[in-house]
Amino acid sequence: MADQFADYQFGIYFDALSGRVPGLPMDYATLESRAASVLSPSLHSYIAGGAGDEATQRRNVEAFTQWGLVPRMLVGADEREMSVTAWGQTFRSPVFMAPVGVIGLVTEDRHGDIAVARAAAETGVPAMFSTLMQDPLEQVITHAGSTPSFFQLYTPKDRDLAASLVERAEKAGYRGIAVTLDTWVPGWRPRDLATGNFPQLRGNVLENYTGDPVFRRLAGSAADPQTDIRTWAQIFGNPLSWNDLAWLRSLTDLPIILKGISHPDDARRAIDAGADGIYCSNHGGRQANGGLSALEMLPEVVAACDDRVPVLFDSGVRSGSDVVKAIGLGATMVGIGRPYAYGLALGGVAGLVHVLRTMLAEADLLMAVNGYPDFAAVRENIRRTS
Ligand code: FNR
Repeated sequence: MADQFADYQFGIYFDALSGRVPGLPMDYATLESRAASVLSPSLHSYIAGGAGDEATQRRNVEAFTQWGLVPRMLVGADEREMSVTAWGQTFRSPVFMAPVGVIGLVTEDRHGDIAVARAAAETGVPAMFSTLMQDPLEQVITHAGSTPSFFQLYTPKDRDLAASLVERAEKAGYRGIAVTLDTWVPGWRPRDLATGNFPQLRGNVLENYTGDPVFRRLAGSAADPQTDIRTWAQIFGNPLSWNDLAWLRSLTDLPIILKGISHPDDARRAIDAGADGIYCSNHGGRQANGGLSALEMLPEVVAACDDRVPVLFDSGVRSGSDVVKAIGLGATMVGIGRPYAYGLALGGVAGLVHVLRTMLAEADLLMAVNGYPDFAAVRENIRRTS
């Protein structure tokens, strides 16, 4: 039988026979609380916090309890097909690492983006790297081995700078550009506001800008940190409109994925305008509070996409069973945010790899126990609980 993600479980049990028990958490609650104790208070606040009173952030997680999977017996699902194909590429599993703009700061050496790339190389789980990196995008991707990487674009106000970032990503070998639409201005985040905590304004994670030739023309050729930060703050957020999509589309031949789509009408219109992927997400509840969870909108978004393009999903995924449920509701690929940041904080590359392997093993075992040999079976056997 080919290697299955479930094997991680048996490895742990067998290791324990020779006295090696896992030093890393096996469940999300322990992961979250242990990560909180190793991260600096400001970085923890930035990662853990969300918009307003964080009702949407909590709802993202709770929404998964409104769906249940019905086990099917006598299926003999001793091998599960978990690979997915999107944009002509095949991935071993539907799981990917969502862009997390401060991930570069999470490791002690402050090269967290490279650590993420190494974990991608080790696991085959692709990463989508934020524009906000601590190391240049050209260097980071060299650590991802044969695992495809994606670049997430925060579209700057300056069109030449946007074009330069996209061109650099394409040249460096990224396989797709995810344009984040919901964060041209930061949402209202009380945890960070309480301490005036905004990492970028302290000069962090701006490497992709400060090393860019167009940015250098805008900020002046002699890099002065204060001028660079001021320039960055002025050009960061472009409140895009539908009219900008044709221009974005013209920047690259790579797949363009629109991140932050929650309404089915937006999904339909985006595909008509040339989007190659729809990324249903509410940014983990960090941007707008008071909304529905991303999962509540997923089935409508999937229906609107009508199999024309892959549908990516994130926001609130905390376990392998959440991954399977998102797939059951029609997602093509499922992104993980905070959990992998916490794995990286706790155990570096090994900690991050552990978090990915636990998610994948749990998802695989759930499919095995429930008698789902493939995702079609998951989709046939998911039910609303309320
Ligand atoms: C994010 N997210 C994000 N998204 C994006 O498009 N570009 C970015 O730079 C960031 N930065 C970022 C920082 C931190 C600390 C977090 C927690 C999240 C959003 C991210 O891609 C994803 O949508 C959410 O993290 C998914 O929600 P969960 O899984 O964290 O609940």
